[in-house]
Amino acid sequence: MKILHATSGLRGELKVPGDKSISHRAVMFGSIATGDTLIRGFLKSADCISTMNCFRAMGIDIEEGTDEKGEYILVHGRGLRGLKKPANPLDCGNSGTTARLISGILAGQDFESLLTGDASLSRRPMKRVIEPLNTLGASLRSENGNGLMPLIIEKGELHGGSIRTRVASAQVKSAILLSGLYADKETTVIEPALSRNHTELMLSAFGADISAGSSIDPKASVRPGRELYGIPVIVPGDISSAAYFIGAALIVPGSEVVLRNVGINPTRDGILRVFKAMGADIKIENERYESGERSADLIVSYSPSLKGVEIGGDIIPALIDELPLIAVVAAVAGGETVIRDAAELKVKESNRISLTVNNLKAMGADAEEREDGMVIRGGKPLHRASIETARDHRIAMSFSVAALVNSDVRPVEIRDPSCVGISFPDFYRDMDRLLEQ
Ligand code: S3P
Repeated sequence: MKILHATSGLRGELKVPGDKSISHRAVMFGSIATGDTLIRGFLKSADCISTMNCFRAMGIDIEEGTDEKGEYILVHGRGLRGLKKPANPLDCGNSGTTARLISGILAGQDFESLLTGDASLSRRPMKRVIEPLNTLGASLRSENGNGLMPLIIEKGELHGGSIRTRVASAQVKSAILLSGLYADKETTVIEPALSRNHTELMLSAFGADISAGSSIDPKASVRPGRELYGIPVIVPGDISSAAYFIGAALIVPGSEVVLRNVGINPTRDGILRVFKAMGADIKIENERYESGERSADLIVSYSPSLKGVEIGGDIIPALIDELPLIAVVAAVAGGETVIRDAAELKVKESNRISLTVNNLKAMGADAEEREDGMVIRGGKPLHRASIETARDHRIAMSFSVAALVNSDVRPVEIRDPSCVGISFPDFYRDMDRLLEQ
């Protein structure tokens, strides 16, 4: 994919595609609930399709349809004990969320299962779920004994208990809480900082006996003994997908975009807080709640005097997936941006610290890799380059945004652009549309 610098601003409106984290959870929890779960706003991207396929392989009937209100997904849940042993290994594709959350559910089943993933997922650490789940009485092991996928999950005896996690990870927290639905006693997770809380909010709406943590007390507990019941779920737009258009509108002169229906759960809105601190012109309108999640419309305008900031500490989990894009915006802003406490970026779909810094440098930016983040001294003109994405969707989209402010006449080349289909299949179409208006 070749992207030329933008000759005019981004303008117009966009309904942001559904939240990936919430879409995964709606299918998973709907599958282990009794009765039907009707999902609207579902994100039909490669990652969420991996989750649907895993549950279909365990006997869950998931319908995809369209009615007068638009597309829907209808999950015919079979209750906590209704999953069937899959005939083949469960393929989680590129999706860490599928692999980690499903591990918590499978830990509570009477049957044995095997989880596999693609090359990227097969490099990502799974000990972070194997160890706490086994401490709680589950029986998980890495097939090759190296802490990576494939994972073998056998029948265990979950007895509940309290786990203190080393990293603030919603995937790990969710796996533990889901296993707690199948335990004898209460299961508690204490995190170093509060990670996204969609599992706690949605499980509670499905009828689980669960208490969520807060930023001051990041401790969540679930008590077993209650069935889950299917409910209608309305999935808000994904702030992690909106991020690319927020960033693009901030740095491309003449832009003003309206992003409709963006989820602004406080455990996910770190990017808004950081951009505002950088001097961004972002207005939040029509705030509302749907299915327990807060959403709003965002009006984002070109902001010529962005300045660098320091980003670290408890805000990191609230913007972890947005850091490559924030780094791109920081390269355009004046002054220095320091990102710290973000070592987790190294174990995402790619090593996002190295890839972000190397691609920024290839475009002429002043960027430096750190053990737990990066430093960007903004303001140098960006020039064309060939962008290595390592098939990581967020790197491809972040540097597609950087390409819009490339000062060369020649385009920026994004390698393996189709990887955007992991979270945002229509990304390029939507970008073109906003650029053409
Ligand atoms: C996710 C949690 C985050 C995030 C990922 C989705 C989730 O991972 O990076 O894209 O849906 O729970 P960690 O919780 O492992 O940081």
